[in-house]
Amino acid sequence: MTAVVVVGSGIAGLAAALHARAAGCAVTLVTKDALGHTNTRFAQGGIAGVLFADDSVESHVRDTLVAGAGLADPAAVRVLAAEGAARIRELVQLGVAFDRDADGVFVKGREAAHSYPRIVHAGGDATGRAIEDALVRAARAAGVQVLEHTFLVDLVVTTRGVTGVDLLRHSEVPPRADAKNGHPPLAPLHLPADAVVLATGGAGQLYAHTTNPPVATGDGIAAALRAGVAVSDLEFVQFHPTVLAGGEPFLVSEAVRGEGAVLIDDAGRRFAFDAHPDGELAPRDVVARAIARQVAAQGGRPVRLDATRLRPTAEATAAFLAHRFPTIDAAVRARGWDWAREPVPVTPAAHYLMGGIDTDLHGRTSVPGLYAVGEVARTGVHGANRLASNSLLEGAVFGARAGDTIAADAGLPWPASAPAPAAAASASARATPPVAARVSPASAPPLARAALQRLMWDAAGVERDAQGLAHAASVIAAWRADAAVPRSVADHEDANLLLVAAHVIAAARARPASVGAHHRRDAAPTSAARPVLEGVA
Ligand code: SIN
Repeated sequence: MTAVVVVGSGIAGLAAALHARAAGCAVTLVTKDALGHTNTRFAQGGIAGVLFADDSVESHVRDTLVAGAGLADPAAVRVLAAEGAARIRELVQLGVAFDRDADGVFVKGREAAHSYPRIVHAGGDATGRAIEDALVRAARAAGVQVLEHTFLVDLVVTTRGVTGVDLLRHSEVPPRADAKNGHPPLAPLHLPADAVVLATGGAGQLYAHTTNPPVATGDGIAAALRAGVAVSDLEFVQFHPTVLAGGEPFLVSEAVRGEGAVLIDDAGRRFAFDAHPDGELAPRDVVARAIARQVAAQGGRPVRLDATRLRPTAEATAAFLAHRFPTIDAAVRARGWDWAREPVPVTPAAHYLMGGIDTDLHGRTSVPGLYAVGEVARTGVHGANRLASNSLLEGAVFGARAGDTIAADAGLPWPASAPAPAAAASASARATPPVAARVSPASAPPLARAALQRLMWDAAGVERDAQGLAHAASVIAAWRADAAVPRSVADHEDANLLLVAAHVIAAARARPASVGAHHRRDAAPTSAARPVLEGVA
């Protein structure tokens, strides 16, 4: 029986685990927090899919390619759009109760840059939670073995490919803080495997402002970089335009703008149309930049999201917001805002990493036996900017594809469709001491993660330039040179964030032109234009 280790328990990892299990593999799923505590859980808007008779795969393909600013891979996008409906129906079979109208038809949601309202949602704005809960139940019922509170340290790669993973496991689950050193006790663990699926998500914790939960520290990408796995497009970081400003960032779904909420400046003027004819529903990178520039123009004061006119009266608007967006409604009101009656301050925040580990259309990476799915992967579906609500879809579609493929791949030569091996990884990327060394006491003070997050926000945020990127590169190089030997999970996360940050900065420096979410304020003005996509229906 093929032994598969899946690292990560969001929609992509769970889909891969379930499909590999159904294909007869023995599957162990490793997750660094409690099962179900993932970025997927926080997805609000919904999942895009071609589910309605008057929508079409062609239309979804086109919207995705346009949002990707010409850099998405048309073959991957076609797979995404064509197989999405089947995967969404599979979620329904697993118990996800997508919202339906009185006739039992899925309620349609609109989000930015979709030419058709093809987003379906559950619990109003609790789609991620509904999906995560159903997949967790299914994985347990299918006999997937689960290791919670278990951290990926490194991939084990030999000349024949991946042979397993090195982990750190809390010796007590759930973990208890060790009174002596403040860290929960950890034990190294090696899991051998015929195949490993990385589904560790993104790296939103690189930034001072992010919609991502604390677990999003780029662990899978960092492990891949250390192992010399091909990785690309790391300069493409998506900033979500609308997060509640002040206090902990809280996402206010694009679906709120899809329902008609508008963005206004200090004078109450809708400024988004200055940047794009689609105004508030322009591609995310365009809206995020328009907001950032408007904030700068008004002396740092946040712009506001005005949802007060979604219904004819304030009472009707309040009832609508509470029903359609119960999670956001509660969060906004908990901060003292009555958003049915007053506009709320919003700001952009790091949301999604389009780049990642290069894969083919079945999740295969450049290393035999190693697969990558979900946000950690660069499947080619997002190009330079992800279309709203395509991320859950990507996880479901490509997670399933990888899971279906693993058993069939076992024992065969790694196919030519897999990405080319990475150019030799830099010595600094590979210089990783063995696990035993990394659990020994550290000698230097730990990195202040907040300093890295601030540096990345300033230098590699919504807009970048050569000077800021060069400064960040030298600061990060110095921090890496001084880094202590990682001891706790937090130390490992810091080391991973530093490594991924170095590669994000290097990728951003290597692309002097603006495209999609990578916007260089020092680029020639014409380079920011979105390409016209020839031959796309
Ligand atoms: C949102 O609800 O605005 C986020 C959806 C997404 O990132 O696709």
